[in-house]
Amino acid sequence: MPALKPESGIFHRDFATDLPVAKHAQGVWIEAADGRRYLDAMGSAGVIGVGHGRTEIYDALAREGRNVSYVYTASFTHPWQERLAASVLSIAPKGMASIYFVSGGSEANETALKLARQYHVERGEPKRHKMLARWQSYHGVTIATLSLSGRTSWRSAYDPYMLPVVHVSPPYEYRCAYCKGHEGCSYACVDELERAILLEGPETVSCFFAETIVGTTASGVTPPPDYYRRVREICDRYGILFIADEVLMGYGRTGRPFAIEDWGAVPDMITCGKAIGSGYAPLGAVIVNDRITDFFREGKRRFVHGFTYSGHAASCFIGLQVFNIMQREGLFTRAAEIGPYLHGRLRDLQQRHPLIGEVRGRGLYAGLEFVADRSTREPVPPAFNFTGQLVSAMRERGVIVGGGVPGANFGKGGDHIQISPPFIIGESEIDILIDALDESLIQLAGQLDAQAAA
Ligand SMILES: Cc1ncc(COP(=O)(O)O)c(C=O)c1O
Repeated sequence: MPALKPESGIFHRDFATDLPVAKHAQGVWIEAADGRRYLDAMGSAGVIGVGHGRTEIYDALAREGRNVSYVYTASFTHPWQERLAASVLSIAPKGMASIYFVSGGSEANETALKLARQYHVERGEPKRHKMLARWQSYHGVTIATLSLSGRTSWRSAYDPYMLPVVHVSPPYEYRCAYCKGHEGCSYACVDELERAILLEGPETVSCFFAETIVGTTASGVTPPPDYYRRVREICDRYGILFIADEVLMGYGRTGRPFAIEDWGAVPDMITCGKAIGSGYAPLGAVIVNDRITDFFREGKRRFVHGFTYSGHAASCFIGLQVFNIMQREGLFTRAAEIGPYLHGRLRDLQQRHPLIGEVRGRGLYAGLEFVADRSTREPVPPAFNFTGQLVSAMRERGVIVGGGVPGANFGKGGDHIQISPPFIIGESEIDILIDALDESLIQLAGQLDAQAAA
């Protein structure tokens, strides 16, 4: 792989990593300047829904661009955000009434937590300021959204800046202390949520944030069927807002427009990012329910918030093109059709590779957790850097998968990867992914055996 040029003016994300230079991308493939082709099996961080190289999106912008000028959304509204809001609301769960557009997932969550707070303050409950979230979670990189995130390794350097968020256990059955020896999920983590609220003082709690299905902090951890209905009940009991973070899992990733629909619970807000712009523009959204919307709308209130680029015209225009493609090609539900093939092939692989402890997720999101010993669920020793080695081995075979953030096992190891390809992936491309995984796991198992024998 070509080394990073020392003269590069980019402050790269990781100066220890040599990156190929992307030249062209089409469908599920990315071609580098050195001619190598990569299967984008992580959908470029779960962003790419409609596939790479959709020239019709930028053709539309070129055609209509003269009308899509930036306007400041405190001074003007514009048809692109109005039309996109109407489109997204037409597929959102019943009860969702308005949308606040931003430029990405962190901005969406930051906006949601501030909106929750202002809602309570203006309704005469100024004591409600506390935020609850879960361990092994990710909600963004800004100080407030990192404070929400239960991702220890990303928080530690910034610990002195972290806001006081109360974190509770996620529904992570595979490693759950409550569920050890229990047949299925015991729902004790939901009871813990209620206890945390009672201990904090329910009248001081503003909101509870949860990734509907957990992303790269514990790839693919999927709550049991009754989880969000119970969460909803608890939040309602104490007047707390429930915010579903669907930045990664929403917009078709799990085979439905919004992942939470599978649980039959309606949150107060749903945050979106990634697939809503499908990588063609930076775009995120907070979808707000009727109760909060009506409170602001009917009271003619001003939300004391706003980025310069909130509701950016070109991003919304592009969001509309993406929405139209998704609708036209049935991509909001395609993951439900092709997902079972992906998960079936991964489970077959699990039969042959004892290193695969668990296959999780839904639709076109799959998380694989790796273990040294399947019967005890003992993680691979962290010094081996299993996730990093697997991602490299896959890349050498021309397949990009997402490395899960180490430490899912309560900071003590816990390797996992994320597979989140574009919604247009076909069976033959899934087969390429599976073959590369098979070979890579054989290679790594050999390395682990050699290390053990040494
Ligand atoms: C669940 C979730 N929430 C929030 C974010 C932050 O989004 P962004 O990187 O667009 O700020 C991410 C990004 O990976 C995410 O997966």
